Amino acid sequence: MPPPPRRQKRSLLNTGGEVALWGDPALAAKLAECLAVDPELRLPFTHGFHTYPARMHPHTAERAIALFGGKSGAVLDLFVGSGTVALEAVRAGRPFTGVDIGAVALEIAWARTRVFRGGEERLVDREGFEIAKRAARFDLRDMPMPDWGTEVESWFSPHTLREIALVLDLIEAVKREDLRRVLRVVLSSVVIRLSKQASDSVTVVDRDWKPWPPRATYRLFSEKCKETAQSLGLLAQDMRDRGVKPVEPEFWLEDARVVKLPKGAFAIGVSSPPYPGTYDYVFHHFLRYPLFGEDPGFARANEIGARREFKKGGDALKKYESDMTQCVKNALDALAPGAPLLLLIGDGRFGTRDVPAADLVRDIANRLGARVPAGASQQRTEWSFGARAGKKAEHFILVTRG
Ligand SMILES: C[S@@+](CC[C@H](N)C(=O)[O-])C[C@H]1O[C@@H](n2cnc3c(N)ncnc32)[C@H](O)[C@@H]1O
Repeated sequence: MPPPPRRQKRSLLNTGGEVALWGDPALAAKLAECLAVDPELRLPFTHGFHTYPARMHPHTAERAIALFGGKSGAVLDLFVGSGTVALEAVRAGRPFTGVDIGAVALEIAWARTRVFRGGEERLVDREGFEIAKRAARFDLRDMPMPDWGTEVESWFSPHTLREIALVLDLIEAVKREDLRRVLRVVLSSVVIRLSKQASDSVTVVDRDWKPWPPRATYRLFSEKCKETAQSLGLLAQDMRDRGVKPVEPEFWLEDARVVKLPKGAFAIGVSSPPYPGTYDYVFHHFLRYPLFGEDPGFARANEIGARREFKKGGDALKKYESDMTQCVKNALDALAPGAPLLLLIGDGRFGTRDVPAADLVRDIANRLGARVPAGASQQRTEWSFGARAGKKAEHFILVTRG
């Protein structure tokens, strides 16, 4: 009998099929245009650099800013994640403020939005190559296991974990701080592949797991450094070619429910909030936090809509609704009068009940006296372990102050 197909470690990205329009036809058509993406298209610039569960498609972010954001003005994303909206705001030459409870997310977003000058992004490749070369010469028996290593050791073969610790040590010795930060994110981008974890969002041991051969960490890391340098180079080139001056984006490690934003300061808000009961971002990144010397406590305490909370039942759905109400209120207050808030949100599940996300956003808007002039809803295929698991809709919804 042939062996079962190997499960892929999939990067979750929203792409998909037909779109149903609702509300104002012209606005809904514009929203649909934002959702119309080519799933086969290679993600441009640094968009494909780091996997992230429920990452927004870059074309959705790009078109949302272009079609709804006016000609200028700052962009807000209360749930910045890996920084898709941040990068598109930078590419549009707009000021950007992004909020997230995850230090890992913010570091990824920061790295993705670097626009190096004078070809300096090539240093990422050069440093990666040097680190890999030096690491390969090192006798791992001399490598003490760091404290953080003992917390995650069951997720790696012992030699792979020591290799990761060594690469991290060598990164710390790099002189330039910006390069150190980018290199740590590069290491973060390969760490799940190097682990026994099934995928970014499936935090169980892969039943097809096989140990990596010695020094695979160095190879994957330096290959990824090369690829990252190329992506960063394309970004810098694109900005130069279009004559767009990058504005340094701001990333805030804050809870979107209570964050204090300047009132009326933003021309547009574009966000994909956590979907109700669908992901556990803290679990997804638990192997990554140690690479950044960060503690996941803040994220664990403040994550909205986490699957782990929905699994407990109780008043998790009510709590999600009230948390999201607070976030939508904060976003609307931060927008200039008449400015749009665009939310990309997928249906969730609570026990045996489906949670239709578009109804939920309409209820929240009603509660706040806000308006939902239009939306576009698209069926998405859900994947689990590389297999088709079911269908749910994802909605791109326009909310404005009443
Ligand atoms: C769907 S993801 C955003 C993905 C992002 N648009 C991208 O393209 O990568 C939702 C994000 O919300 C963040 N989040 C959850 N609870 C939060 C809270 N209370 N305040 C701010 N961010 C939160 C999660 O950490 C996660 O990064």
